[in-house]
Amino acid sequence: MPTVTLANSKQYEATPGTSLLDAALSAGLVLEHSCKTGRCSSCKARVVSGRTERLRPEEVLGAIDVEQGWILTCARAAVDDVALDIEDLGDLADYPARTWPARIQQIERVLDDVVKVTLRLPPTAKLRYLPGQYINVLGPDGLKRAYSIANAAPGPTGPVELHIRAVQGGAMSAYWFGRAQVNDLVRLHGPLGTFFLRDAAGEQVVFLATGTGIAPVKAMLEQLTATPEQQRPASITVYWGCRHPQEHYWVPNDEGLPVRFVPVASRPQEDWTGARGHVQNVFMADAPDLSRTWVYACGSNDMIESAQRQLLAAGLPARRFHSDAFVVSG
Ligand SMILES: Cc1cc2nc3c(=O)[nH]c(=O)nc-3n(C[C@H](O)[C@H](O)[C@H](O)COP(=O)(O)OP(=O)(O)OC[C@H]3O[C@@H](n4cnc5c(N)ncnc54)[C@H](O)[C@@H]3O)c2cc1C
Ligand code: FES
Repeated sequence: MPTVTLANSKQYEATPGTSLLDAALSAGLVLEHSCKTGRCSSCKARVVSGRTERLRPEEVLGAIDVEQGWILTCARAAVDDVALDIEDLGDLADYPARTWPARIQQIERVLDDVVKVTLRLPPTAKLRYLPGQYINVLGPDGLKRAYSIANAAPGPTGPVELHIRAVQGGAMSAYWFGRAQVNDLVRLHGPLGTFFLRDAAGEQVVFLATGTGIAPVKAMLEQLTATPEQQRPASITVYWGCRHPQEHYWVPNDEGLPVRFVPVASRPQEDWTGARGHVQNVFMADAPDLSRTWVYACGSNDMIESAQRQLLAAGLPARRFHSDAFVVSG
């Protein structure tokens, strides 16, 4: 069986036909990832040596990426021994994904096209996750969709909060915005993904969010509020982009945190005095000092790709950019 060697010399065996990512997860090694379907590019890695085969399309990779040996670990399997230029994320191994029953506790319509859903787990459930991670909701008719958890774990069985935007013609959207009732039973599978805060004590943390991409940012800010002061970032800036100013349905509760909140509107009315345009451009126009900055971007894939391209070109090291793209998850 092929052996995969990571940049930190850790090794695992990769069953032929199984993605490099799934093989790592089975071996207890967590590699950076999110969608697991080849759509978000979180799992992008460079092959140092060895041959791999494609299991699913890698449309998010450009021709230059492919030329330079980049692959998606969720989309490729090892053909022979492979060396990858990435390391595993040891800390996540404590939070294995499991399936949990949950009941809808509350559905609150915060905008015409956004609901805040809280889900209650049974007293015996012990869902533990890192703020920023997501879960799959297994809903009616075999539907499965990914949603970021919008609250930092309030307790082992505390309610899980989700912010859900209606997608036109969407199957699960039709459930949340039509049939869903308080007390409905759904199942959750998670925690999933590797979007979580890295150690940034004394540094500058910037969140870029669009739409319901604010959900995991809210969870991470709650986590930072509970973090001892000496371990917190020196500054935190939240850029939140929506089309219209009235779509900013939440404001950070920045109790004791050095948070600068920048609501951004891409299609505001004339009298809007706040920031206009796209979050990534507003952030770049603020001429950030990238030498001490960590960026967490969440929401639309277009925003994330554009932000990553601009920031890396301006000198942000790749390991300081983390993202979760809300790509099609069905
Ligand atoms: C890691 C991850 C986390 C996510 N977290 C959240 C979250 O916290 N809140 C949230 O509102 N959504 C989130 N999403 C998106 C969510 O999982 C669904 O994809 C989305 O809500 C659409 O589901 P649906 O069943 O209503 O539409 P579907 O029936 O799946 O699709 C209907 C139509 O809409 C298109 N479509 C589907 N999804 C999208 C999309 N995301 N953007 C644009 N077009 C789309 C499809 O191509 C199809 O044509 C997340 C996605 C991922 C991968
Ligand atoms: S592209 Fe591989 S995890 Fe999203």
